[in-house]
Amino acid sequence: MEIILANALGQDVSKLAAQEKRLLLSRLLARFAHEVRNPLSSLDIHVQLLEEDIAQAPPKVREKTASRFEIIHGELHRLENIVKHFLSLAGPSSLDLRPVEVVKVVSHVCELLRPEAAARGIEIVMKLPESLPSVPADSAQLTQALVNLVINAIQAVERNGRVEVSVSRDERDGVLTIAVRDTGPGIPADKQSAIFEPFFTTKAEGSGLGLWIIQQIITAHGGVVEASNAPGGGAVFAVHLPLQKKENGDG
Ligand SMILES: Nc1ncnc2c1ncn2[C@@H]1O[C@H](COP(=O)(O)OP(=O)(O)O)[C@@H](O)[C@H]1O
Ligand SMILES: [Mg+2]
Repeated sequence: MEIILANALGQDVSKLAAQEKRLLLSRLLARFAHEVRNPLSSLDIHVQLLEEDIAQAPPKVREKTASRFEIIHGELHRLENIVKHFLSLAGPSSLDLRPVEVVKVVSHVCELLRPEAAARGIEIVMKLPESLPSVPADSAQLTQALVNLVINAIQAVERNGRVEVSVSRDERDGVLTIAVRDTGPGIPADKQSAIFEPFFTTKAEGSGLGLWIIQQIITAHGGVVEASNAPGGGAVFAVHLPLQKKENGDG
């Protein structure tokens, strides 16, 4: 589908695709490094404990194991450095936060995907408020997250239906919400928690990375993504973004 889109819509989407790839690679690197780091530090602790145990052993055993421990420490150190290097490559999910007019981003995404949707008899409808403050966001990454959500919605509807993208704000909670609702089959109850996992897909050609990436992007913004089913059928994905820049919004 992304390829069809790229062909149909040209440059804009192919740029997005390249950016998507870069982002994906950096997220995968970060995830890989984090996952390797935990067993590594556990290994480190256990080797130290083992050394303490061996300290009570006869001198002969201690001598024999000393050089082995040296190698183990050296190699552990090397692995830790490799992981650190990977983490630094991935970067702190570098968000370029600037005041973003969400209505513009939403309109852009809808216009981008409208021809592809129309070809399948799917109408994309926007529900936008009269006025909105700009929110601190990385507009390229936010665009990517929304493109992924709307593509998922189009894929869920398959043919002849509707995708509704609405924006609203809750001043009291200091939150802006972008909701993507479709007239597809909705999310089965037993899949609700799995869909955000990386590589989870129910599609023959799916990557299972779309929702995971969306979640990474929105979390990095200090926001939340929620999936639910609409009372009248179909799925709703709601992205809640803070209206103000949050302290401590670590990536
Ligand atoms: N709008 C939706 N309606 C129903 N199910 C959805 C919707 N969006 C996503 N899903 C489910 O979540 C899974 C994971 O989505 P995603 O991470 O984007 O990967 P992919 O689209 O490659 O399958 C999908 O395969 C599908 O089962
Ligand atoms: Mg997807």
